[in-house]
Amino acid sequence: MLIKKPSDIKPSEITPQSVYQRRREFMRTSLGLLLAGAGLPGLSAATLPRSGKLDAVKNPSLSTDETLTPWANATEYNNFYEFGSDKYSPAKLAGRLTTSPWRLSIEGEVARSGSYTLEDILRPHALEERIYRLRCVERWSMVVPWVGFSLAELIKRFEPTSRAKYVEFTTLYRPEEMPGQKRRVLDWPYVEGLRMDEAMHPLTMLAVGLYGEILPNQNGAPIRLVVPWKYGFKSIKSIVKIRFTEQQPVSTWTRSAPSEYGFYSNVNPDVDHPRWSQKRERRLGEFLKRKTEPFNGYAEQVAGLYRGMDLKKYY
Ligand code: MTE
Repeated sequence: MLIKKPSDIKPSEITPQSVYQRRREFMRTSLGLLLAGAGLPGLSAATLPRSGKLDAVKNPSLSTDETLTPWANATEYNNFYEFGSDKYSPAKLAGRLTTSPWRLSIEGEVARSGSYTLEDILRPHALEERIYRLRCVERWSMVVPWVGFSLAELIKRFEPTSRAKYVEFTTLYRPEEMPGQKRRVLDWPYVEGLRMDEAMHPLTMLAVGLYGEILPNQNGAPIRLVVPWKYGFKSIKSIVKIRFTEQQPVSTWTRSAPSEYGFYSNVNPDVDHPRWSQKRERRLGEFLKRKTEPFNGYAEQVAGLYRGMDLKKYY
């Protein structure tokens, strides 16, 4: 990333989740309830709340039992360049982003292409909570209970054609609400991509919440990707377009610095970033560094996707 040295958070700066939650004035509307009622007369997408509780069924089989990262770390120390390239700006500035109404367009090699409301996209999907590790290329990691569903379920619904080999995702471009987009730090809008089998992997998730709450804007509201075995930048936020392609998409970070950020970007302690080692990481909220695991600890589930590939070449 463009930031050379990730600044550390002192434990004294960390607000316990309970305290933080008491401070927030949440509308306690359940997104699930609202979505169930979204088709009713009088209830439109414009009534989608910006914060509130989500009903989700826990999925222990896809969850780690490691200690959760404090809520404050996960929601106040973010990478979201659309709101600036430092870690604290997204939490300060993302409040101005209008996340409702929200539309998502499904394009390319797919039978049911079109522009859909967020409610149309979400309605058939039951929400699950999965506790995933996420490891940033800048050497910090976190453990967060995400709320969402498998991207595979959505992909199947929209019926990709046999030519669909990749999936490309695009973030909203709205400089009037995303001040970082007024500067050409990156080639906006932010784009990411996955190979079809990566996108269809049961771990790959579309998230609408974390810690049982609707996603705070700084974490990618109203809908983002979470790919736990890849560096965090693959987990694109505030998605407005999903396009199925025959050609490998060019993602924003690869375009910006191809020698530093490849298309695959699997967490790999054996392949250093040109400017730093990837052998170790610091879990947000902890002092001591820990060893980075291949595929961020998900090797058993995902290494097979890359069998026979030279992961130094396809970094
Ligand atoms: N998505 C967009 N649109 N813009 C970004 O700058 N940053 C990425 C990823 N998704 C980013 C993005 C990076 S570098 C990381 S590490 C994760 O978001 C951070 O997610 P978090 O803020 O929820 O921890």
